[in-house]
Amino acid sequence: MRKRVVITYPLPPERLGALANLCDLDVLEGSQPLLQSLSSEQLASCNGLICLLTDSIDRALVDNMPNLQFVSSVSVGVDHIDVEAMTARNIPVGHTPGVLVDATADTAFALLLAAARRVAEGDRYIREGNWGRKTRWSPDFFLGKDVSGGTLGIIGLGAIGQAVARRAAGFGMSVLGWTPSGRKVPGVDSVSLEELLLRSDFVSVHLALAKETRNLLDAAKIATMKPGAVLVNTARGGIVDESALVAALNSGHLYAAGLDVFEREPIAMDDPLLRHPRVVAVPHIGSATTLTRAKMVDLAIGNAAAVLQGQPMPHCVNPGVYTTQ
Ligand code: DGY
Repeated sequence: MRKRVVITYPLPPERLGALANLCDLDVLEGSQPLLQSLSSEQLASCNGLICLLTDSIDRALVDNMPNLQFVSSVSVGVDHIDVEAMTARNIPVGHTPGVLVDATADTAFALLLAAARRVAEGDRYIREGNWGRKTRWSPDFFLGKDVSGGTLGIIGLGAIGQAVARRAAGFGMSVLGWTPSGRKVPGVDSVSLEELLLRSDFVSVHLALAKETRNLLDAAKIATMKPGAVLVNTARGGIVDESALVAALNSGHLYAAGLDVFEREPIAMDDPLLRHPRVVAVPHIGSATTLTRAKMVDLAIGNAAAVLQGQPMPHCVNPGVYTTQ
């Protein structure tokens, strides 16, 4: 019998062709949470799931999916999936590593520059009609923070962290790095997290969100950051305590923040982060380039196709499922 694969978003039909030959596709459209609103029959007959990072794939959901054979996410991060629950049922979980490294590193650097040199604030200033009416060019007009020659601390030295380090070298920055695995990277001075926070003019976060990294940058850690530092986060909102970040910005301890990710997405319009002029906020667009997103979709479809053809998933976050079967 042909397998039934549910896709939680209308991915481009031209990318789905090969998959459609291998299974019946059930493409969901509408507002979230799509999966949670499926009937028990629809859930029970689902053999595979291709999802986005906005879908919550938790134990309660998959307990109602007795025939589920794989989950393939169009994302590198899998914090929206209860991987432990999937592993317990020998369900491989696929993700999309590698292809979004440069796009995300570019976004981190764009946010770093925008926050340091007040790009978004300057744009608002002009559009609100203030330039010329209130002030004109002067030696102390709209001063920002020097990037070139500064010290960048990178938290997490995986592929994206390393790509950010390469960009920093081009700006003549000294680069410090800390990663939980203790990995050493050429051109990056490995230090403890404490030393990184103490010495860095800019701190950029590049870790996956997990139990160990949730709230890693809490109030106590933020308090130890170098006065006047800029924090950039393109990883996951849950790694940074947002109330502590707001407090540190409001007190002037931190200079600015560049944020692509938030504890709750979409961020609420009345969130205090959005009231601070030195917060540059973008809506989780780290990997949002046409080419990158096409590659992510292709990897996710490739992961699903492999399982449907009886092969191991090429990009599996819990490969142990293949050795325990
Ligand atoms: C991911 O794939 O996890 C990224 O956050 C998408 O930008």
